[in-house]
Amino acid sequence: MSTVYPSTNHESNSIEDRLKIDYLLDAKTAEKNDIQDLISGLQNTPKSIPVRYFYDSQGSQLFEQICQLPEYYPTRTEASILKQYAAEIVEQTKAIELIELGSGSSTKTRYLLDAYQDLHTPLYYSPVDVSDTILKDSAYKLLADYPQLKIQGKVATYDRALEQMSSYVLGRRTIIFLGSSIGNFKDSECDRFINQVTAVLNPGDYFLLGIDLQKPKKILEAAYNDSQGVTAAFNLNMLQHLNHRFQGNFNLDLFRHQAIYNSNEHQIEMYLIAQQDQLISLKDLNLTLKVNKGEKILTEISRKFNLEQMKQYLGNISDKEAEGQNLNLIQTYTDEQQWFGLLLCQKQLPNP
Ligand code: AVI
Repeated sequence: MSTVYPSTNHESNSIEDRLKIDYLLDAKTAEKNDIQDLISGLQNTPKSIPVRYFYDSQGSQLFEQICQLPEYYPTRTEASILKQYAAEIVEQTKAIELIELGSGSSTKTRYLLDAYQDLHTPLYYSPVDVSDTILKDSAYKLLADYPQLKIQGKVATYDRALEQMSSYVLGRRTIIFLGSSIGNFKDSECDRFINQVTAVLNPGDYFLLGIDLQKPKKILEAAYNDSQGVTAAFNLNMLQHLNHRFQGNFNLDLFRHQAIYNSNEHQIEMYLIAQQDQLISLKDLNLTLKVNKGEKILTEISRKFNLEQMKQYLGNISDKEAEGQNLNLIQTYTDEQQWFGLLLCQKQLPNP
């Protein structure tokens, strides 16, 4: 890994000079993999749709609305933990490069940015998001509010961004992955993701991970079946997205949103349930499907973690390429009710 330290010379402080955005969405490859996953998901029994189809521009906006809902406790709980411990986290990590995977509107990140500002050291913030609109909007707002900040955003999938990061290091690095987005991964995806993150950290660098913790079913189900119907709209929008993208004929009125907590698997499962027999075609994919009345299409899993198990899991991760370089759990932060956890890990320093 080559290290390029940022200049501390702030002669020009204009927003344009402090902003760089890389577009790393390789449309063709991404599209091909996405489509393959979509077709096999729809042909499987039970049917499923990959979670990434939530996030067209309408879906991203609906998700931002979900984060404000009274029933959706994860965002405000994680924010309260960050608010309380940001100064401690920043003091410990002293990063030069703060990378956020799935940054969205970067709202909660502001607690960390405030704390970095108090340190008066230069900071590069690298938000990574698939939505260029959200990334750009929030970058401009941040640059206006944090005059010393430089932003190097990436419009990219996590995979692509992590791949590119391995060859370009600005300095001491902290990667953050908030909102319990890791909960939307299956076991194998989770392993792969954590291994990828570990591989792009240099010894001594940090990883801050937000995880939603197990709690009573009633609270969980309310969070994913909100009374204003925003989560239902978010779920149904996936069909609208598919219609738009692949000339489909899903009729949104013929599906109903359902979110249930599967207590054996410790996960919320979101479904779209067909209200009558129907024939679906996605013309651009040459795909026709029969969907029966009552049939459920799985659109998302959202896993709820056990703190102790997660600590153990992270403690067993090691960078296979750089032999034996483990991720050490340094600190765990939670709220009073233990509803949400923030785990701060450090890639092991070499033995003296
Ligand atoms: C992005 N992700 C962590 C959210 C979650 O809670 O699993 C997505 C979401 N789905 C419905 N509501 C929120």
